[in-house]
Amino acid sequence: MPALDVDLLRADFPILSRIVRNGHKLIYLDNGATAQKPYSVVDAERDFYLNHNAAAHRGAHLLAEEATDAFEGARRTVASFLTAQVDEIIFTKSATESLNAVAYGFLNSSIGAQDTKSPFYVNSSMNIVVSELEHHANLLPWQQLAQRTGATLRWFPVDHQGRMNLQDINVIIDEKTAVVALTHQSNVTGAITDVERISKRVREVGSIFVLDACQSVPHFGVDVSALDIDFLTFSGHKALGPTGVGVLWGRYELLEQMPPMLTGGSMIESTTIDSAKFAAPPKRFEAGVPNMAQVVGLSAAIEYLNNVGMFAIEEHEQQLTARALEGLTAIPGLTIVGPTDLKERGGVLSFTVDGIHPHDMGQVLDDKGIAVRTGHHCAWPLMQSMKVQATTRASFYLYNTAHEIDELIAGIIDAKRFFKV
Ligand code: ALA
Repeated sequence: MPALDVDLLRADFPILSRIVRNGHKLIYLDNGATAQKPYSVVDAERDFYLNHNAAAHRGAHLLAEEATDAFEGARRTVASFLTAQVDEIIFTKSATESLNAVAYGFLNSSIGAQDTKSPFYVNSSMNIVVSELEHHANLLPWQQLAQRTGATLRWFPVDHQGRMNLQDINVIIDEKTAVVALTHQSNVTGAITDVERISKRVREVGSIFVLDACQSVPHFGVDVSALDIDFLTFSGHKALGPTGVGVLWGRYELLEQMPPMLTGGSMIESTTIDSAKFAAPPKRFEAGVPNMAQVVGLSAAIEYLNNVGMFAIEEHEQQLTARALEGLTAIPGLTIVGPTDLKERGGVLSFTVDGIHPHDMGQVLDDKGIAVRTGHHCAWPLMQSMKVQATTRASFYLYNTAHEIDELIAGIIDAKRFFKV
Protein backbone atom coordinates (compact mmCIF):
# COMPACT_ATOMS: atom_id res chain seq x y z
CA MET A 1 0.00 0.00 0.00
CA PRO A 2 1.52 3.39 -0.95
CA ALA A 3 2.31 5.70 1.97
CA LEU A 4 0.42 8.99 2.17
CA ASP A 5 1.83 11.82 0.11
CA VAL A 6 1.35 14.27 2.95
CA ASP A 7 3.03 17.21 1.20
CA LEU A 8 0.63 16.81 -1.70
CA LEU A 9 -2.51 16.55 0.39
CA ARG A 10 -1.52 19.44 2.66
CA ALA A 11 -1.92 21.71 -0.36
CA ASP A 12 -5.64 20.95 -0.19
CA PHE A 13 -5.85 22.59 3.26
CA PRO A 14 -5.03 26.30 2.92
CA ILE A 15 -5.21 26.91 6.67
CA LEU A 16 -2.14 24.69 7.17
CA SER A 17 -0.02 27.33 5.39
CA ARG A 18 -1.00 30.03 7.85
CA ILE A 19 1.68 31.91 9.70
CA VAL A 20 0.51 32.27 13.27
CA ARG A 21 2.23 33.53 16.46
CA ASN A 22 5.70 35.02 16.29
CA GLY A 23 6.05 34.24 12.59
CA HIS A 24 5.70 30.49 13.11
CA LYS A 25 3.98 28.27 10.60
CA LEU A 26 0.87 26.66 12.09
CA ILE A 27 1.30 23.16 13.49
CA TYR A 28 -2.24 22.00 14.04
CA LEU A 29 -2.43 19.21 16.61
CA ASP A 30 -5.97 19.75 17.87
CA ASN A 31 -7.75 17.36 15.54
CA GLY A 32 -9.59 15.64 18.38
CA ALA A 33 -11.51 18.89 18.84
CA THR A 34 -12.11 19.58 15.15
CA ALA A 35 -10.35 18.84 11.88
CA GLN A 36 -9.35 21.30 9.16
CA LYS A 37 -11.22 21.40 5.85
CA PRO A 38 -9.95 20.73 2.34
CA TYR A 39 -11.01 22.96 -0.57
CA SER A 40 -13.35 20.26 -1.87
CA VAL A 41 -15.53 20.44 1.26
CA VAL A 42 -15.80 24.22 1.24
CA ASP A 43 -16.36 24.16 -2.54
CA ALA A 44 -19.17 21.61 -2.20
CA GLU A 45 -21.00 23.78 0.34
CA ARG A 46 -20.42 26.89 -1.73
CA ASP A 47 -21.64 25.17 -4.89
CA PHE A 48 -24.76 24.00 -3.09
CA TYR A 49 -25.62 27.50 -1.89
CA LEU A 50 -24.69 29.25 -5.13
CA ASN A 51 -26.25 26.83 -7.59
CA HIS A 52 -28.69 24.37 -6.04
CA ASN A 53 -30.07 25.92 -2.86
CA ALA A 54 -33.67 24.91 -2.14
CA ALA A 55 -35.44 23.00 0.63
CA ALA A 56 -34.86 19.27 0.14
CA HIS A 57 -37.96 17.06 0.09
CA ARG A 58 -40.18 20.10 -0.50
CA GLY A 59 -41.15 21.99 -3.61
CA ALA A 60 -42.01 20.90 -7.14
CA HIS A 61 -39.26 22.81 -8.91
CA LEU A 62 -35.89 21.90 -10.38
CA LEU A 63 -33.82 23.34 -7.54
CA ALA A 64 -35.81 21.41 -4.93
CA GLU A 65 -35.18 18.27 -6.95
CA GLU A 66 -31.45 19.00 -7.15
CA ALA A 67 -31.27 19.76 -3.41
CA THR A 68 -33.07 16.49 -2.65
CA ASP A 69 -30.76 14.54 -4.94
CA ALA A 70 -27.69 16.08 -3.31
CA PHE A 71 -29.02 15.35 0.19
CA GLU A 72 -29.99 11.76 -0.59
CA GLY A 73 -26.77 11.22 -2.54
CA ALA A 74 -24.87 12.18 0.60
CA ARG A 75 -26.86 9.61 2.55
CA ARG A 76 -25.69 6.93 0.10
CA THR A 77 -22.08 8.10 0.44
CA VAL A 78 -22.22 7.90 4.24
CA ALA A 79 -23.97 4.52 4.15
CA SER A 80 -21.33 3.05 1.89
CA PHE A 81 -18.52 4.57 4.05
CA LEU A 82 -19.91 2.73 7.10
CA THR A 83 -21.07 -0.35 5.15
CA ALA A 84 -24.63 0.35 6.30
CA GLN A 85 -28.02 0.35 4.60
CA VAL A 86 -29.00 3.72 3.17
CA ASP A 87 -32.18 4.08 5.22
CA GLU A 88 -30.23 3.43 8.42
CA ILE A 89 -28.38 6.75 8.09
CA ILE A 90 -29.87 9.76 9.87
CA PHE A 91 -28.48 13.25 9.55
CA THR A 92 -28.43 15.30 12.74
CA LYS A 93 -26.75 18.56 13.61
CA SER A 94 -24.01 16.89 15.68
CA ALA A 95 -22.93 13.70 17.38
CA THR A 96 -24.25 15.24 20.59
CA GLU A 97 -27.70 15.50 19.00
CA SER A 98 -27.43 11.91 17.72
CA LEU A 99 -26.70 10.58 21.21
CA ASN A 100 -29.51 12.65 22.69
CA ALA A 101 -31.86 11.32 20.00
CA VAL A 102 -31.22 7.74 21.14
CA ALA A 103 -31.48 8.64 24.83
CA TYR A 104 -34.78 10.44 24.11
CA GLY A 105 -35.92 7.38 22.16
CA PHE A 106 -35.64 5.50 25.45
CA LEU A 107 -37.18 8.31 27.47
CA ASN A 108 -40.16 8.73 25.14
CA SER A 109 -40.84 4.99 25.30
CA SER A 110 -40.67 5.00 29.07
CA ILE A 111 -42.61 7.99 30.38
CA GLY A 112 -46.17 9.12 29.73
CA ALA A 113 -47.77 6.58 27.40
CA GLN A 114 -45.28 3.85 28.24
CA ASP A 115 -44.53 1.09 25.80
CA THR A 116 -43.38 -1.72 28.08
CA LYS A 117 -42.86 -4.09 25.13
CA SER A 118 -40.52 -1.66 23.38
CA PRO A 119 -36.78 -2.47 23.28
CA PHE A 120 -36.41 1.17 24.38
CA TYR A 121 -38.45 0.77 27.54
CA VAL A 122 -36.51 1.49 30.74
CA ASN A 123 -37.75 1.71 34.32
CA SER A 124 -36.41 2.01 37.84
CA SER A 125 -35.59 -1.70 38.11
CA MET A 126 -33.22 -1.43 35.16
CA ASN A 127 -29.75 0.00 34.59
CA ILE A 128 -27.86 2.03 32.00
CA VAL A 129 -24.15 1.40 31.41
CA VAL A 130 -21.51 3.98 30.41
CA SER A 131 -17.82 4.29 31.29
CA GLU A 132 -15.56 6.76 33.04
CA LEU A 133 -13.96 7.43 29.65
CA GLU A 134 -17.00 9.11 28.14
CA HIS A 135 -16.90 12.71 27.02
CA HIS A 136 -19.89 14.64 28.25
CA ALA A 137 -21.89 14.13 25.04
CA ASN A 138 -22.06 10.41 25.77
CA LEU A 139 -22.57 10.81 29.50
CA LEU A 140 -25.10 13.53 30.21
CA PRO A 141 -27.89 12.17 27.97
CA TRP A 142 -27.67 8.86 29.86
CA GLN A 143 -27.42 10.57 33.26
CA GLN A 144 -30.59 12.44 32.38
CA LEU A 145 -32.32 9.26 31.22
CA ALA A 146 -31.39 7.54 34.48
CA GLN A 147 -32.61 10.47 36.57
CA ARG A 148 -35.93 10.74 34.73
CA THR A 149 -36.74 7.03 34.69
CA GLY A 150 -35.23 6.06 38.05
CA ALA A 151 -32.89 3.58 36.33
CA THR A 152 -29.46 3.06 37.87
CA LEU A 153 -26.46 4.48 36.08
CA ARG A 154 -23.54 2.04 36.08
CA TRP A 155 -20.11 2.53 34.60
CA PHE A 156 -16.91 0.75 33.69
CA PRO A 157 -13.99 2.24 35.59
CA VAL A 158 -10.69 3.08 33.89
CA ASP A 159 -7.35 1.56 34.78
CA HIS A 160 -4.11 3.46 35.44
CA GLN A 161 -3.43 3.77 31.69
CA GLY A 162 -6.84 5.23 30.89
CA ARG A 163 -8.24 2.03 29.37
CA MET A 164 -11.73 0.77 30.03
CA ASN A 165 -11.50 -1.84 32.76
CA LEU A 166 -13.80 -4.70 31.70
CA GLN A 167 -12.91 -7.04 34.56
CA ASP A 168 -16.45 -6.92 36.02
CA ILE A 169 -18.25 -6.91 32.68
CA ASN A 170 -20.60 -9.75 33.66
CA VAL A 171 -21.69 -7.88 36.78
CA ILE A 172 -21.91 -4.41 35.24
CA ILE A 173 -23.88 -5.56 32.19
CA ASP A 174 -26.68 -7.87 33.29
CA GLU A 175 -30.19 -8.96 32.30
CA LYS A 176 -31.54 -5.63 33.60
CA THR A 177 -29.28 -3.48 31.39
CA ALA A 178 -31.43 -1.38 29.08
CA VAL A 179 -28.57 0.18 27.13
CA VAL A 180 -24.76 0.23 27.00
CA ALA A 181 -23.30 3.48 25.60
CA LEU A 182 -19.53 3.62 25.18
CA THR A 183 -16.85 5.46 23.32
CA HIS A 184 -15.01 3.63 20.54
CA GLN A 185 -11.83 5.60 21.18
CA SER A 186 -11.28 7.94 24.12
CA ASN A 187 -10.89 11.60 23.20
CA VAL A 188 -8.48 11.99 26.13
CA THR A 189 -6.43 8.82 26.54
CA GLY A 190 -6.69 7.55 22.97
CA ALA A 191 -7.56 4.06 24.32
CA ILE A 192 -9.52 1.91 21.86
CA THR A 193 -12.46 0.00 23.29
CA ASP A 194 -12.75 -3.78 22.97
CA VAL A 195 -16.08 -3.63 21.11
CA GLU A 196 -16.13 -7.33 20.32
CA ARG A 197 -15.93 -8.40 23.95
CA ILE A 198 -18.59 -5.93 25.02
CA SER A 199 -21.00 -6.72 22.19
CA LYS A 200 -20.79 -10.42 23.05
CA ARG A 201 -22.00 -9.62 26.57
CA VAL A 202 -24.62 -7.15 25.31
CA ARG A 203 -26.05 -9.87 23.07
CA GLU A 204 -26.05 -12.43 25.93
CA VAL A 205 -28.30 -10.18 28.01
CA GLY A 206 -30.37 -8.81 25.11
CA SER A 207 -29.47 -5.16 25.65
CA ILE A 208 -28.77 -2.34 23.14
CA PHE A 209 -25.22 -1.19 22.31
CA VAL A 210 -24.57 2.45 21.34
CA LEU A 211 -21.08 3.30 20.09
CA ASP A 212 -19.78 6.86 20.17
CA ALA A 213 -17.40 6.82 17.21
CA CYS A 214 -16.49 10.52 17.10
CA GLN A 215 -12.79 9.73 17.52
CA SER A 216 -12.69 6.54 15.47
CA VAL A 217 -14.70 6.95 12.26
CA PRO A 218 -12.53 9.85 11.01
CA HIS A 219 -9.31 7.94 11.70
CA PHE A 220 -9.74 4.28 10.78
CA GLY A 221 -12.17 2.24 8.72
CA VAL A 222 -15.32 1.45 10.71
CA ASP A 223 -17.68 -1.13 9.24
CA VAL A 224 -20.97 -1.34 11.13
CA SER A 225 -21.85 -4.60 9.40
CA ALA A 226 -18.81 -6.21 11.04
CA LEU A 227 -19.34 -4.73 14.51
CA ASP A 228 -22.13 -6.33 16.48
CA ILE A 229 -23.58 -3.01 17.68
CA ASP A 230 -26.96 -1.27 17.41
CA PHE A 231 -26.24 2.46 17.08
CA LEU A 232 -23.21 4.48 16.09
CA THR A 233 -22.62 8.18 15.84
CA PHE A 234 -19.91 10.53 14.60
CA SER A 235 -19.64 14.22 13.89
CA GLY A 236 -18.92 15.73 10.49
CA HIS A 237 -16.49 18.38 11.62
CA LYS A 238 -14.03 15.90 13.12
CA ALA A 239 -13.96 14.04 9.78
CA LEU A 240 -12.89 17.02 7.58
CA GLY A 241 -16.54 18.01 7.11
CA PRO A 242 -18.41 21.14 8.16
CA THR A 243 -19.77 21.89 11.59
CA GLY A 244 -23.53 21.55 12.01
CA VAL A 245 -23.81 17.98 10.77
CA GLY A 246 -23.65 14.67 12.61
CA VAL A 247 -24.55 11.13 11.66
CA LEU A 248 -26.61 8.60 13.55
CA TRP A 249 -26.58 5.04 12.28
CA GLY A 250 -29.01 2.55 13.78
CA ARG A 251 -30.18 -0.95 12.94
CA TYR A 252 -33.32 -0.52 10.90
CA GLU A 253 -35.45 -2.87 13.00
CA LEU A 254 -34.60 -0.74 16.06
CA LEU A 255 -35.06 2.59 14.30
CA GLU A 256 -38.52 1.44 13.28
CA GLN A 257 -39.43 1.07 16.95
CA MET A 258 -37.72 4.24 18.23
CA PRO A 259 -39.83 7.32 18.96
CA PRO A 260 -38.43 10.59 17.61
CA MET A 261 -36.86 13.28 19.79
CA LEU A 262 -37.86 16.12 17.45
CA THR A 263 -41.23 16.44 15.75
CA GLY A 264 -42.33 18.79 12.98
CA GLY A 265 -42.30 19.11 9.21
CA SER A 266 -41.32 16.26 6.92
CA MET A 267 -41.18 13.57 9.58
CA ILE A 268 -44.82 12.51 9.27
CA GLU A 269 -46.79 10.24 7.03
CA SER A 270 -50.02 12.05 7.86
CA THR A 271 -51.43 14.34 10.52
CA THR A 272 -54.70 15.75 11.79
CA ILE A 273 -55.13 18.64 14.19
CA ASP A 274 -54.67 16.42 17.22
CA SER A 275 -52.58 13.43 16.15
CA ALA A 276 -49.95 12.31 13.66
CA LYS A 277 -48.59 9.15 12.10
CA PHE A 278 -44.83 9.31 11.89
CA ALA A 279 -42.92 8.50 8.71
CA ALA A 280 -40.60 5.52 8.46
CA PRO A 281 -36.90 5.99 9.28
CA PRO A 282 -34.78 7.87 8.38
CA LYS A 283 -37.32 10.66 7.70
CA ARG A 284 -38.93 10.16 11.11
CA PHE A 285 -35.76 11.48 12.71
CA GLU A 286 -35.14 14.46 10.41
CA ALA A 287 -37.80 17.01 11.34
CA GLY A 288 -37.61 20.44 9.74
CA VAL A 289 -35.72 21.72 6.70
CA PRO A 290 -32.49 19.74 6.91
CA ASN A 291 -28.89 20.98 7.04
CA MET A 292 -28.45 20.34 3.33
CA ALA A 293 -25.30 22.33 2.63
CA GLN A 294 -23.53 20.78 5.62
CA VAL A 295 -24.61 17.29 4.58
CA VAL A 296 -23.29 17.92 1.08
CA GLY A 297 -20.03 19.18 2.63
CA LEU A 298 -19.80 16.03 4.74
CA SER A 299 -20.29 13.92 1.63
CA ALA A 300 -17.35 15.72 -0.01
CA ALA A 301 -15.28 15.11 3.13
CA ILE A 302 -16.01 11.39 3.00
CA GLU A 303 -15.14 11.27 -0.66
CA TYR A 304 -11.86 12.96 0.21
CA LEU A 305 -11.14 10.39 2.95
CA ASN A 306 -12.06 7.56 0.59
CA ASN A 307 -9.75 8.90 -2.10
CA VAL A 308 -6.85 9.07 0.34
CA GLY A 309 -7.82 5.69 1.79
CA MET A 310 -8.74 4.93 5.39
CA PHE A 311 -6.08 2.23 5.72
CA ALA A 312 -3.39 4.65 4.60
CA ILE A 313 -4.70 7.28 7.04
CA GLU A 314 -4.68 4.81 9.91
CA GLU A 315 -1.17 3.66 9.10
CA HIS A 316 0.10 7.24 8.84
CA GLU A 317 -1.42 8.20 12.19
CA GLN A 318 0.04 5.10 13.80
CA GLN A 319 3.50 6.13 12.59
CA LEU A 320 3.04 9.64 13.96
CA THR A 321 1.77 8.27 17.27
CA ALA A 322 4.70 5.85 17.57
CA ARG A 323 7.12 8.73 16.99
CA ALA A 324 5.33 10.95 19.50
CA LEU A 325 5.19 8.19 22.13
CA GLU A 326 8.90 7.52 21.77
CA GLY A 327 9.78 11.21 22.03
CA LEU A 328 7.40 12.09 24.83
CA THR A 329 8.16 9.12 27.06
CA ALA A 330 11.87 10.05 26.93
CA ILE A 331 11.17 13.46 28.51
CA PRO A 332 11.83 13.35 32.28
CA GLY A 333 8.80 14.38 34.34
CA LEU A 334 6.34 13.80 31.49
CA THR A 335 3.53 11.33 32.09
CA ILE A 336 1.36 9.98 29.29
CA VAL A 337 -2.28 9.90 30.40
CA GLY A 338 -3.26 6.88 28.35
CA PRO A 339 -1.90 3.59 27.04
CA THR A 340 1.73 3.54 25.95
CA ASP A 341 1.26 0.44 23.80
CA LEU A 342 0.55 1.49 20.22
CA LYS A 343 -1.71 -1.52 19.64
CA GLU A 344 -4.18 -0.24 22.24
CA ARG A 345 -4.53 3.33 21.10
CA GLY A 346 -5.10 5.89 18.40
CA GLY A 347 -3.47 9.24 17.67
CA VAL A 348 -4.79 11.21 20.65
CA LEU A 349 -2.00 11.80 23.17
CA SER A 350 -2.65 13.44 26.53
CA PHE A 351 0.14 14.18 28.95
CA THR A 352 1.15 16.11 32.03
CA VAL A 353 4.58 17.52 32.87
CA ASP A 354 5.67 17.85 36.50
CA GLY A 355 5.83 21.50 37.54
CA ILE A 356 4.03 22.93 34.47
CA HIS A 357 0.29 23.52 34.42
CA PRO A 358 -1.24 22.27 31.14
CA HIS A 359 -2.56 25.77 30.37
CA ASP A 360 0.98 27.16 30.65
CA MET A 361 2.25 24.34 28.46
CA GLY A 362 -0.45 25.16 25.92
CA GLN A 363 0.57 28.80 25.91
CA VAL A 364 4.27 28.06 25.41
CA LEU A 365 3.43 25.70 22.54
CA ASP A 366 1.05 28.26 21.04
CA ASP A 367 3.86 30.82 21.08
CA LYS A 368 5.68 28.40 18.77
CA GLY A 369 2.67 28.02 16.48
CA ILE A 370 1.73 24.59 17.89
CA ALA A 371 -2.02 24.27 18.51
CA VAL A 372 -2.96 21.70 21.17
CA ARG A 373 -5.91 21.43 23.53
CA THR A 374 -5.51 21.86 27.28
CA GLY A 375 -7.97 21.32 30.11
CA HIS A 376 -10.45 18.60 30.97
CA HIS A 377 -11.49 17.84 27.35
CA CYS A 378 -15.19 17.68 28.28
CA ALA A 379 -14.46 14.53 30.29
CA TRP A 380 -14.50 15.52 33.96
CA PRO A 381 -15.23 12.08 35.43
CA LEU A 382 -12.18 10.71 33.60
CA MET A 383 -9.98 13.49 34.97
CA GLN A 384 -11.23 12.72 38.47
CA SER A 385 -10.60 9.02 38.01
CA MET A 386 -7.09 9.55 36.59
CA LYS A 387 -6.44 12.04 39.43
CA VAL A 388 -5.39 14.87 37.12
CA GLN A 389 -7.04 18.28 36.97
CA ALA A 390 -6.16 18.82 33.35
CA THR A 391 -3.88 17.55 30.60
CA THR A 392 -2.25 18.83 27.46
CA ARG A 393 -3.54 16.93 24.44
CA ALA A 394 -1.99 16.57 21.00
CA SER A 395 -4.19 14.83 18.44
CA PHE A 396 -3.07 13.91 14.94
CA TYR A 397 -4.63 13.56 11.51
CA LEU A 398 -3.75 12.68 7.95
CA TYR A 399 -2.05 16.02 7.20
CA ASN A 400 0.34 16.01 10.16
CA THR A 401 4.02 15.28 9.56
CA ALA A 402 6.89 13.66 11.41
CA HIS A 403 8.54 17.08 11.51
CA GLU A 404 5.52 18.49 13.36
CA ILE A 405 5.80 15.73 15.96
CA ASP A 406 9.47 16.59 16.42
CA GLU A 407 8.54 20.26 16.86
CA LEU A 408 6.01 19.27 19.53
CA ILE A 409 8.66 17.30 21.41
CA ALA A 410 11.17 20.16 21.10
CA GLY A 411 8.49 22.62 22.25
CA ILE A 412 7.82 20.62 25.42
CA ILE A 413 11.54 20.43 26.18
CA ASP A 414 11.78 24.20 25.67
CA ALA A 415 8.85 24.74 28.02
CA LYS A 416 10.63 22.72 30.70
CA ARG A 417 13.71 24.88 30.22
CA PHE A 418 11.59 28.05 30.40
CA PHE A 419 9.86 26.99 33.63
CA LYS A 420 13.11 25.57 35.00
CA VAL A 421 11.65 22.15 35.81
N1 ALA B 1 -14.82 17.74 21.13
C1 ALA B 1 -14.23 17.39 22.37
C2 ALA B 1 -12.76 17.13 22.22
O1 ALA B 1 -12.03 18.03 21.92
C3 ALA B 1 -14.93 16.36 23.09
O2 ALA B 1 -12.31 16.06 22.46
